[in-house]
Amino acid sequence: MTRDLTLLGLESSCDDTAAAVVRHPGHGPAEVLSSIVFGQTELHSAFGGVVPEIAARAHAEKLDHCVRDALAAADLRLSDMDAIAVTAGPGLIGGVLSGVMCAKGLAAASGLPLIGVNHLAGHALTPRLTDAVPYPYLMLLVSGGHCQYLIVRGPADFRRLGGTIDDAPGEAFDKTARLLGLPQPGGPSVQAEAETGDPRRFRFPRPLLDRPDCNLSFSGLKTALMRMRDQVMAEKGGLTRQDRADLCAGFQAAVTDVLAEKTRRAIRLYLEESPNTRTVAVAGGVAANASIRAALETVCAEFDARFVAPPLALCTDNAAMIAYAGLERFRNGERDGMDLAARPRWPLDQRSPAMLGSGKKGAKA
Ligand code: KG4
Ligand code: ZN
Repeated sequence: MTRDLTLLGLESSCDDTAAAVVRHPGHGPAEVLSSIVFGQTELHSAFGGVVPEIAARAHAEKLDHCVRDALAAADLRLSDMDAIAVTAGPGLIGGVLSGVMCAKGLAAASGLPLIGVNHLAGHALTPRLTDAVPYPYLMLLVSGGHCQYLIVRGPADFRRLGGTIDDAPGEAFDKTARLLGLPQPGGPSVQAEAETGDPRRFRFPRPLLDRPDCNLSFSGLKTALMRMRDQVMAEKGGLTRQDRADLCAGFQAAVTDVLAEKTRRAIRLYLEESPNTRTVAVAGGVAANASIRAALETVCAEFDARFVAPPLALCTDNAAMIAYAGLERFRNGERDGMDLAARPRWPLDQRSPAMLGSGKKGAKA
């Protein structure tokens, strides 16, 4: 079946309410006809993290507006869709439920098929949406809520090689910014400070590099930073602009080194499994970091692998990736019924043991 398909996608698993319309002609990349994202940053800013109840209520209020806007921006009606795809997990359960209930209502009213999508599969399949990357490829998911290496073999066939055992890297950037009094989101502010800093002045650890696997840990870096900051403050009575820049540069260099080396290990495992396909893709907000991105590009060049980094708007949480992941499942003849359940946890690779830890943005899968 290679006919042209158009799907509506809904996303509400964390702190972004999103709807999008995606069309796929049956081969090559897909076309994002519209992608609407309502962020909730200001609703949660006073609390230092996402408050699940506030998020769920905001999703319930905003979802139908998002759907209306996404259809209008695509200049289409619900009856022009072939199916409705919705994030059914993993994530904050109240938000996921809001999305699933909204999608069920739309499906019941329109008679359109309903497809539940794993949010992480949405991220992992984005390089196919944007660049029609063939299976299998290696995916590094690095955001405020996720961090894992996956071999993506098919729309529902993933092998997880490793991931964080505590914080996600974006979370570590955000906490670092908070400790240094820099604005949120922390990633861009820490990157900006690091530009004028000396990455060698403070000796940050390189967590888990002594272990041969692809697992990562970032919470120790934050503790190290706090200790170094307190030491400078005790000695000088405060932090100078240069102290802050050096701390940011040291922290960023440590995250970059760890991600680069663990990516080398993940690429070796990927090439053992599939020596003839050499594509490494990245998704998530942390992929915007210039130092990390440059290091990943260098590592890919060492292995003669293609490096694919989708545009940031499709790397961070959005509904176009959900519509696209649903589209691949729909093309394979898969459908869900009105009994589709919202799942707080939903590991992509059911065979690997569950990861430890749960971050500010909900359960890690
Ligand atoms: O993918 P994303 O928008 O949201 C989820 O986590 O789901 O990622 C947001 C995260 C934040 O923690 C933010 O600080 C981080 O990505 N981030 C960055 C940069 N830009 C955004 N981290 C490091 N360097 C950046 N330039
Ligand atoms: Zn996400």
